Amino acid sequence: MGKQRRARQRSGLHDRWLLTAAGVVGALATIVVYQPIQQWLGAAPCSEASRNDTDLVRQCMAAAFDGAYPTEASPTGSVREFEIIAASAAVELFDGRPFDAWAYNGQVPGPTLRVKLGETLKVHFRNELPQSTTIHWHGIRLPNSMDGVPGVTQPPVPPGGTFEYEFTPKDAGTFWYHPHIRSSEQVERGLFGVLIVEDAAAAARAAPPRARELVWVLDDWLIDSTGQLDTHFVTRHDLAHDGRWGNVVTVNGLTRPVFEARPGERLRLRTVDVANGRVFSLDFGALPATVIAQDGMYLPSPIASEGSELAPGNRLDFDIEIPADASGKYPVLNRFGRTPTEIASVVVRGEQVVTSIEPFPVGRVPDWSHAAGLPPDFVLALNARLGGPFGVEWTINNQVMRHDDPFSHRHEEAPYKLHAGRFSKMRFVNESARLHPMHIHGQFFQVLARNGVPVSERRWRDTVLLRPRETVDVGMVPIDPGKWMLHCHILEHADSGMMTLVEVQ
Ligand code: C2O
Ligand code: CU
Repeated sequence: MGKQRRARQRSGLHDRWLLTAAGVVGALATIVVYQPIQQWLGAAPCSEASRNDTDLVRQCMAAAFDGAYPTEASPTGSVREFEIIAASAAVELFDGRPFDAWAYNGQVPGPTLRVKLGETLKVHFRNELPQSTTIHWHGIRLPNSMDGVPGVTQPPVPPGGTFEYEFTPKDAGTFWYHPHIRSSEQVERGLFGVLIVEDAAAAARAAPPRARELVWVLDDWLIDSTGQLDTHFVTRHDLAHDGRWGNVVTVNGLTRPVFEARPGERLRLRTVDVANGRVFSLDFGALPATVIAQDGMYLPSPIASEGSELAPGNRLDFDIEIPADASGKYPVLNRFGRTPTEIASVVVRGEQVVTSIEPFPVGRVPDWSHAAGLPPDFVLALNARLGGPFGVEWTINNQVMRHDDPFSHRHEEAPYKLHAGRFSKMRFVNESARLHPMHIHGQFFQVLARNGVPVSERRWRDTVLLRPRETVDVGMVPIDPGKWMLHCHILEHADSGMMTLVEVQ
């Protein structure tokens, strides 16, 4: 400064000139230095230096997210209409015997609804059950009013009532649908179905001979000594444990079904866990399997399937390559729990098939590893206490929410609020000794840390399993405004109170 002043005195330059010169230098500096920093911030993950500036970290995370999946749906104008009726029905289940179930269109699982990305679904729904119900479209990003949550997004559909659901999915992938009232009973009785949204390009690449598609709906049932469904729902035992775990495990309603494949064939296997409480970890033995999608969304690159878990609500899509020299029976085991059990098998026979090796599409998942130090927007403590209509209540921050209590959400106040388009962080703290697959409607998130240790899962999820006493941090950029359910997907835990609302504004 002193030097400058001396220079000015010596040269006798006007102050105005100096100001102009300073302006030019400043502008140059802005162009040369500042702009590249901005560009770099937008393109690359945040630097270590930015860690203490939470606003900057949020901006960086939002910039990294940009375009990872579309904000808006792109309707093509083509509409696909479905008629769905929920009613009790005798359905051939397990080993093929008629079983008194509740079913969508007389089928368990319900009809697989298949649409192309950009198509609009129109579902004419009629309730012929003895109870009120709704349909929730699990994992689909849709307008809040179509989300199927009684008392929040729509009135319950009474026995004999109807409702029209209409929405255009924003993402291609494997999703599912189920009731959102007394789901511990209604889902257990057989009300669930798969919704597949196909991406045109992916469909072309995944079509035969590239891959044949299989859908496996994983479930379990609690059957009593008479061979019928045990109709004691939400028992103290269920509540003191990880919900209701059945004594019969089924794939597509069948016990140990056999699927045929040919040597050299590739399978795209879409799996959904619709059980009230059971977790699955599939072991394909000698059949090479990779995971290509989680909860509907493609991974940035396929990963080996070993150890992948499906908690209630989760989906996993597998790419399975049947070896050219394979033949005979390949059992598929569920390894979650004490003893691995066979749940299905693949029998390989017939002439060899030659398939192209064109890979499946991959997804975009931003690198949010620098958000580890960011304070969470809110913390959700998960625990239980005595009381309530079932004797035990599962709580989120000591609060309960129940769909069956007409007064429990009279004001529809959402206790938690997030800003649309802003990077947000939630922390789940499992204070209990039980499992909790925590699910949020209408959003995808990424797991950032477990027990305070950063993890890079690099995949989208709508449901994450918390183990006993575990803390899990998740990051997300909420997009669609509205009041969205956040709850445990162990349906007994949810029905006894472990639900809340997050409002995206
Ligand atoms: Cu499948 Cu509210 O969830
Ligand atoms: Cu739970």
